[in-house]
Amino acid sequence: MSVAAVVPAAGSGTRLGAGAPKAFVPLAGVPIVVRAVDGLLRSGAVDEVVVAVPEALLEHARELLGGRPVAVLAGGAERTATVRRALDLLRRPHDVAQRQGGPSGDGPPDIVLVHDAARPLTPPALIAAVVAAVRAGNPAVVPALPLADTVKRVAGSTVESTVDRSALRAVQTPQGFALDLLRAAYAASGVDAIATDDAGLVERMGEKVVTIPGDPLAFKVTTPWDLRIAELLLEGS
Ligand code: CTP
Ligand code: MG
Repeated sequence: MSVAAVVPAAGSGTRLGAGAPKAFVPLAGVPIVVRAVDGLLRSGAVDEVVVAVPEALLEHARELLGGRPVAVLAGGAERTATVRRALDLLRRPHDVAQRQGGPSGDGPPDIVLVHDAARPLTPPALIAAVVAAVRAGNPAVVPALPLADTVKRVAGSTVESTVDRSALRAVQTPQGFALDLLRAAYAASGVDAIATDDAGLVERMGEKVVTIPGDPLAFKVTTPWDLRIAELLLEGS
């Protein structure tokens, strides 16, 4: 079974506010998207990678990622639209290979990972574990961590209730799917559907999604604080 990874990297990085789209912000000298892609390739579990970036940065991204088995395309206005475009591209692996210099194959991959560029320190072992869980027969797999803080439901600044956190999980990427299932989930959702993760669309179809243990290092770089933490972690490694 062949494995493709889709890397949504087309966001603007508003909350990071670094003056450039987040995926292109350097983290200890290496752009975030390059670190994310190299982690996928180092896992040894991924055969091809499709990276979606802001349209204005297509050529720049191709230069940054040069020499890797990677196809680069323009993303959409929302993450969901970005992933939808990348999945459409996977339908035509030979076209992709011809246009982008990426790998060619005998047909579309069987398994697809969707992995945020914004999670540049994700351990390759976690990536391999997600792929292994899909290979083991789970069509939809997400890495998840328990919550440390107490969680409250609020209305404005007033607390309404305390949520039982024992049944809650914070979900990361990569999320792994049988490609046919993820395509069906995107096809079943409207083109304007918005989900903050891909498993959410699979859940809307009533299909089962399973969790595996996540890893704190797969945290998402969202704010300047996160970028600083990522830099400190790299200094210490
Ligand atoms: N993403 C994308 N296309 C979009 C929006 C987001 O490919 N239209 C990607 C981001 O590049 C990121 C991942 O989805 O790798 C997770 O999104 P998020 O952390 O929200 O990144 P941004 O949207 O860039 O950040 P912000 O919401 O602060 O603007
Ligand atoms: Mg966003």
